[in-house]
Formats: sequence, C-alpha cells, structure tokens
Amino acid sequence: MLIARTPGQVREAVAGFARPLGLVPTMGALHAGHLALVRRAREECRTVAASIFVNPLQFGPGEDYDRYPRAFEGDVAALREAGVDLVYAPDAATMYPPGFGAAVDPGPLGERFEGALRPGHFRGVATVCVKLFATVSPDRVYFGAKDAQQVAVLARIIADLNLPVELAVCPTVREPDGLALSSRNVYLDAEQRAAAPSIHRALEVIVAAVRDGETDRERAVARGRAELAPQLREAYLDIVDPATFAAPRDIRPPALAIASAWAGETRLIDNEPIVAVPSGRDEAPVLHDSGRSA
Ligand code: PAF
Repeated sequence: MLIARTPGQVREAVAGFARPLGLVPTMGALHAGHLALVRRAREECRTVAASIFVNPLQFGPGEDYDRYPRAFEGDVAALREAGVDLVYAPDAATMYPPGFGAAVDPGPLGERFEGALRPGHFRGVATVCVKLFATVSPDRVYFGAKDAQQVAVLARIIADLNLPVELAVCPTVREPDGLALSSRNVYLDAEQRAAAPSIHRALEVIVAAVRDGETDRERAVARGRAELAPQLREAYLDIVDPATFAAPRDIRPPALAIASAWAGETRLIDNEPIVAVPSGRDEAPVLHDSGRSA
C-alpha cells in the first residue's frame, strides 16, 4: 500500500493503476462504517484509494476541528488490512497552499438543515471533494448514507459540474442498539451513549407512522419527537426530499426522515428512508438507499 502526501505523488501512482479506480474519502478515525465503504469499493473496483484529511474548511468557528479524533497509524493499518492500494494523506498546507482562494458553492441545498446549523460546511465539503476527485481521478467514489445531505450535495455537484465520476452510496452501519456509527461517538459519556439510540428509534417511529397511513409531515414528525430521550436536545427532525432537502407539508416519495440531536456538546445525525407511502397515495414503495450507486 502506497502512502502519498502530495497531488504529484498521487498522480504518479494512479498513472499505473488498473481501472476502475474507487476512492473512499475520509477524515480518518476510521470505524466499521468506513471499512464497509472500502469493502464495497474493493468488490467493485480493480484498484482502491482512500484519503485521510481532516478538512479545516468544513469546520466552523467553535466547532471541533482541533479536537476531532485523529488516529493516523491505526487508520493506515486498517486500510492496509482492508486491501487499499493507495492512501492520500496531505497536510493542510498541501491541500490549501498560501493564496488558496477558490471554492465550490453547493447552492441552496447547502444552506438547509446541516447547512443552516453549520454555515459554510457544505462549501468546505464540496471544495475538498472536488479537489480530491481532481487529484485522484477515481471512476467511482464511495460515501455513507448516514451523511444524507452530504450525499445530496455531492450528487448535485457531480451532475452540475459534469464531473466524470460515479457516486456510490452505502448503507449506514449501526451499533446493535441502532446508533449510527460516527467518529464523533467517542465524545459521548455513558449517559449520552445510552440516550443516543433514541435518535434512530424516533426515525423508526416516523417511518412506521407513514407506513401506517399518516400523510401529514408535521404529525408524523411529532410522533417521532416523542421517542427522543430527554437527555438529548433536538436540532432538527423532519421528512424531506432526499435530493433537495425540501420539506413539503404532505409526505410524498421519495422521502427521507432526518434527525439531528445534541448529546451535551456533541451533535449526532441520522436518517431513515421512508420505504412505503400510505396506500392510495402512490403506486409503489420508494427506496432512497438500496445500497447501490446513486
Ligand atoms: O464525510 C466525511 O468524512 C467528510 O465530510 C469528507 C467527505 C471526507 C470530506 O472532508
């Protein structure tokens, strides 16, 4: 497994790689969710690259950039074990040299929900991803469905900018109690960790309410809200169109239940596709994430 630190080293390595080439972009602190992305890339591509870069551009003032978990040696060992061919791990000065001033603007989608809570976040994500895609030139890129709005932003950018890359979205990996895996779960204390699975339960209640015939978005969301543990503070709970993150009053497919809640200083996110709409309102069940390419 090669470790590249500069775009030049990446390009030199990639020039000799068999295609298709898959890329798994990460910020490190890898968990089973990341390794599932690598596994899927391994199954589908002849060569697999992963990037490790904690991207300062996607963290706002007062967010956890400085304390974001970093575990480079362990990450490299896990990626080697998973059969990755190339790791791209630039430092911040290489990614954003003095004078760097360009940015990729994700448009209105980048301002809703996560974007409203984290102004500039998706601009940072979009900018670094476009740089990673341009440097590694992958045929396919792999992202987790947990970050549903990130997926929507990247799908929009790939389509709008005609980027020659295919987006593959892999299902969220969960703890046995339903908590979605996240590098930020390490911040949770015992009480917060015990409360955190209620985020997923709230989403399941919303999905069940819609399946059982609820058509009003606010009523369905209120049913889920009642499930959130009192130790958590809701940031948002809603039902949106997974491509635009618009939230029409009446639930119509495709629809995605989304949640975010604070556990102390840590904000967790999750989502669950609405797989069935009330009978008589639509012809067929709708799947947001079938585990295949989006
Ligand atoms: O999902 C992440 O870990 C990051 O947002 C990404 C896509 C690696 C960009 O920094």
